[in-house]
Amino acid sequence: MSQDAESPYRTIRVTAEPSGFGAEIVGLDLAHPLSKGALAEVKAAWARHAVVAFPDQPLTLDQLEAFTQAIGPFGEDPFIKPMPGHPNVLELRREPDEKATNFGAGWHSDWSFQQAPPAATLLHSEVVPPVGGDTLFCDCVRAYEALSEVMKQMLAPLMAVHSAGRAYGTQGVFAKETARRTLQIVVSPEADKSLTHPLVRTHPLTGRKALFISPVYTVGIEGMTPKESTAILGHLFQHMTQDEFIYRHRWRPKMLLMWDNRCTMHFAEGGYDGHLRLMHRTTVAGDVPR
Ligand code: SIN
Repeated sequence: MSQDAESPYRTIRVTAEPSGFGAEIVGLDLAHPLSKGALAEVKAAWARHAVVAFPDQPLTLDQLEAFTQAIGPFGEDPFIKPMPGHPNVLELRREPDEKATNFGAGWHSDWSFQQAPPAATLLHSEVVPPVGGDTLFCDCVRAYEALSEVMKQMLAPLMAVHSAGRAYGTQGVFAKETARRTLQIVVSPEADKSLTHPLVRTHPLTGRKALFISPVYTVGIEGMTPKESTAILGHLFQHMTQDEFIYRHRWRPKMLLMWDNRCTMHFAEGGYDGHLRLMHRTTVAGDVPR
C-alpha cells in the first residue's frame, strides 16, 4: 500500500493499494457520529477507491447501524433471515464444524437482481479465522477500461439479465443443499424472477463506466441465444477475474469494510474449516443502474 503523496484529506489518513483500488482509512472512531467534514472525506475516499477498510473499530450492532445510515438509508436484504431485533443486519456466522460451502463463495455484486441494487455493503468482522476467509474484490472499472474499443462499442447497448434463481431459487444451490448451515437462507420462487440492467453501467458519482455483471447473478444477455450470451459472459468473467483487477482483503478482528457494489464484484474465500468466522453485514440502498 502507498500513502497518498499529496493527501486531499484533512481529517482522515488514507493508504491506498498501488492500483488505487482498495484503501485503508484510519484517524476515525466510527463508534461515534462523524463530523460533516469527516463523513464527506470518507465518502470521497470510498468513491475513489471503491473498497475501503477501517481497522480497529470495535462496533456494537447499534453503532454499525448508525454508521451505515450516515452513509445512506438501509438497502433491502432478501432471502436471508436478519438478526433478531436488527432487521437490517445479517449475521454471517460459519461454525467450526460446518461443512456447507461458505456464504458468498462465487463472484457477485450484492443483490444485482434488484431494480435498485445496494450502493454499498458494510461488513464488520467479529471473529476472524487464523487461516483463510479472505474476501476478493474485482475492479469492474479497470476491467472495463482494459477492453478494446471495438468490444466496448459492442457491449454499450446490451442489457444483461439478472436473477437470484441460481442461488436462492426453487432449483438453486441453496434449495439443493443438504449440509447444515447456520446462516438462515430463505429459498423462494421470488428468486426465480429476472430483470435487466445495462451490461455497462455508469457510476452516478464518479461518472466512470464499469462492467455490471457477475457469474452468480447474471444469467444472460437480452436478445441473445443462451449459447451467444454464455460465450460473451464467459469471456468477460475470465477477463474481469485476472489478477491485475483483483484486490485481496485480509481480515483482522474488529475491522469494518465498505465496498461499492456499483463498480465491484466480490468473492468470499473459504479455507477455514474447523474455525469460527463471524461477521455482521448491512447494505445501503442504491439507485437504478444506468
Ligand atoms: C458476501 O457478502 O458475499 C460475504 C463476504 C464475506 O463473507 O467475506
